[in-house]
Amino acid sequence: MTIADNDRRQRTDPNDVDAILAMTNTDVDAVIASVENHADTIFTWDYEKGQRPRLEKLYEKAKGSMWNGETDLDWSTDVDLEEMTNHLAVVAQLQNKPLYDLAAEPGNPLSNWAEKEWKDLARESLVWQMSQFLHGEQGALVATAKIVETVPWIDAKYYASTQVMDEARHVEVFAKYLDTKLGDHYPINVHLKDLLDDVVNDSRWDMTYLGMQIMIEGLALAAFGFLYQMTEEPLLKKLLRYVMSDEARHVAFGVLSLQEYYEGLSLAEIQERQEFAFEAALRMRDRFLRQEVWYRMGIDDPKPLIAAMLDAPPESKEFQRLLFSKIVPNCRKLGLLDAGQGWLRTKFEEINVIEFEHLESTDDEYRDFALAE
Ligand SMILES: [Fe+2]
Ligand SMILES: [Fe+2]
Repeated sequence: MTIADNDRRQRTDPNDVDAILAMTNTDVDAVIASVENHADTIFTWDYEKGQRPRLEKLYEKAKGSMWNGETDLDWSTDVDLEEMTNHLAVVAQLQNKPLYDLAAEPGNPLSNWAEKEWKDLARESLVWQMSQFLHGEQGALVATAKIVETVPWIDAKYYASTQVMDEARHVEVFAKYLDTKLGDHYPINVHLKDLLDDVVNDSRWDMTYLGMQIMIEGLALAAFGFLYQMTEEPLLKKLLRYVMSDEARHVAFGVLSLQEYYEGLSLAEIQERQEFAFEAALRMRDRFLRQEVWYRMGIDDPKPLIAAMLDAPPESKEFQRLLFSKIVPNCRKLGLLDAGQGWLRTKFEEINVIEFEHLESTDDEYRDFALAE
């Protein structure tokens, strides 16, 4: 069975552990994966540049912000994975708080874990996370190439084309870091792949924007920012800093484009976008349950771990909640939280992330991420 053959999970209970674990990537040895693209390719004969001044400004900014991963990053830096993992112990403890709580109880797979196993988990989690960043970056590369084809506005086609180049550099530097510094990698997580498939598959151009620019890139910006703050490894720190300067612009591109487009949609159409956004949020949450890591750590039945992570009280899930710190304010800015009697607001309340709604939205914030000129 391939990923594409997995039955779409029925969302009657988003915390159904069996349903989450029933999905696995069984295609780990395949070198390529094809996904059908149902969207029409759109030409425009209206070449007047700057009809959307904020997009034009982003495009001009992007043209002058290209860096080169081969020459701007010092690849001769020695990376000691063990030392790096030790420095990231704070992240690991925050990320794994529900599991430390579970380990304190008898009779579960973590009860007899010693320091070595927790260190192994921190290392595996870092390699896993960097691998998922890599796969997500390729998703962004493909999705923005699709946006170039499908968006009807010339200013957006221009901007998206710069993003294609940005994402190529991101894929390149994450792949090189994994290959030459970490020496290990994980295949794509099934929940992330499922989401990427939908983003590429949908016939509506704005769904590619919503899934990629707002949800996946919003989460990536928060996750990169967290790792950037925490790591002391200079090469990774600089790599993340460079990538983040681009990502903030990418999310801004999504917010600016969708704000205009959503103004012309009916309530029923907006409700479809709300559902798509929440479905994407759940799949990203499920991705961070890291099921591949548990199997590699020798835990055949990770069900108690997954349940502990899902059922933990909000204060134990600070890391998982922080991942939504960019997504929620951007959804608010797009009017997605409160349309249709606040459907998405209620859903974000249920997964305890609504508190982020008044943080700065990324259409204003991207300037703060710019590299020094
Ligand atoms: Fe990227
Ligand atoms: Fe991006």
